[in-house]
Amino acid sequence: MKWSGVFLALVVLAQLRLEAAALDNGVARLPPMGWSTWCTENDVLPCYDDFCNEQEIRSVADAMAANGLKDLGYNYIVLDDCWGGGRDAQNNIIPDASRFPSGMKNLTDYIHARGLLFGVYTDVGTTTCRGGRPGSWPFYEQDARVFASWGLDYVKMDWCHEPSGFTAQELYTNMSQALNKTGRPIFFSICEWGRSDPWTWGMKVGNSWRVGPDHLPVWWTPPFQQDPGQGQGTANIIEHMAGLSSYAGPGGWNDPDFLMPGYWWLSENEQISEFSFWCLWASPLIVATDVRVLSDKKHILNKEAIAVNQDKLGIPGDRIANYTDGGQVWAKPLSNGSWAVILYNPNFFESVDIPVSWDQIRGWPAMQQAGNKKALVRDLWKHENQGVWAVGFLGKRVEAHAVRFITVTPYGA
Ligand code: GLA
Repeated sequence: MKWSGVFLALVVLAQLRLEAAALDNGVARLPPMGWSTWCTENDVLPCYDDFCNEQEIRSVADAMAANGLKDLGYNYIVLDDCWGGGRDAQNNIIPDASRFPSGMKNLTDYIHARGLLFGVYTDVGTTTCRGGRPGSWPFYEQDARVFASWGLDYVKMDWCHEPSGFTAQELYTNMSQALNKTGRPIFFSICEWGRSDPWTWGMKVGNSWRVGPDHLPVWWTPPFQQDPGQGQGTANIIEHMAGLSSYAGPGGWNDPDFLMPGYWWLSENEQISEFSFWCLWASPLIVATDVRVLSDKKHILNKEAIAVNQDKLGIPGDRIANYTDGGQVWAKPLSNGSWAVILYNPNFFESVDIPVSWDQIRGWPAMQQAGNKKALVRDLWKHENQGVWAVGFLGKRVEAHAVRFITVTPYGA
């Protein structure tokens, strides 16, 4: 067996172990991709309002089906905290009639007819975080049945006003079981802001788990506790994700929260860094800006980056080097025997040269002889091969907040 065969066999064994522990609800073999209403209407202030009524949702569905997003794999549409209207006389949850006069089943059918999937937000408590809309407590089973009857494919459950006397794991497990009982495969997104280390139990309970506070469309924030309306920048999230890769895999993913492409508070470099990391982590690629307009968010269309996110091995990447001058290296194995590698400069101002040697990459073929440690390097943003490199690669003068996103393929072993 060649080195690549041995490595792949080990990887597959590790994956089987993770999958045996995973929630078996038939979805999320690969990270989900799509669009959420959260924060979409935010021309001036970040997260000022959702973009959320049935005409708007239909227009986004039409756009996603036609503008290339669906073909790239962005196929979920998820209503965030903007749709609930209350409960009827039988306590069935109902949508806000002023926003969704035709009802949810009707909207699901519209979205499904365009080859897309549909989901909604709910909350562990009686009311949601922002709008004071209905949460699912104490109607988890009933809500799960109603969601399934609408034909939903995705449910996100938030963490405001949590009922006392239960752990997060217990509450989310209750909803997970309620959803499973419906018999409909429904992606279950746990959103308790990383408070009780959900990566340690999320795989058994849901298909993704938020690892921390909300992602605000800014690069950096002072460290915050999560509370409604608070959040953290992209750089904070990148730091937080180090060390979490081993908890996620096919069936359940670390969720660093929404992508904010096109948001003017983030520079082009910052947006490219953000997308590169979300791809490397095999994290959900759920976009929370208006995807009917793509001219200012072309980078989310990068097929080579998306292929890293959607690689069939489903192994999340992690940090492999953290140099004293600030430069960092992150890596993720791919199913074709290559690795995706990010050279990242989190410094506030200085550019740095960032080296990676093949020996640093976990699983690198040991059979490569000392004199023959060569690899083909490809730049996933330039869409160009960078030649064959012996021993390692040097990302020259990587600017502050920027990345080089490359694949590395052992050559001539
Ligand atoms: C919390 C969640 C966000 C969003 C809002 C809605 O802050 O973490 O993702 O759903 O609530 O109010």
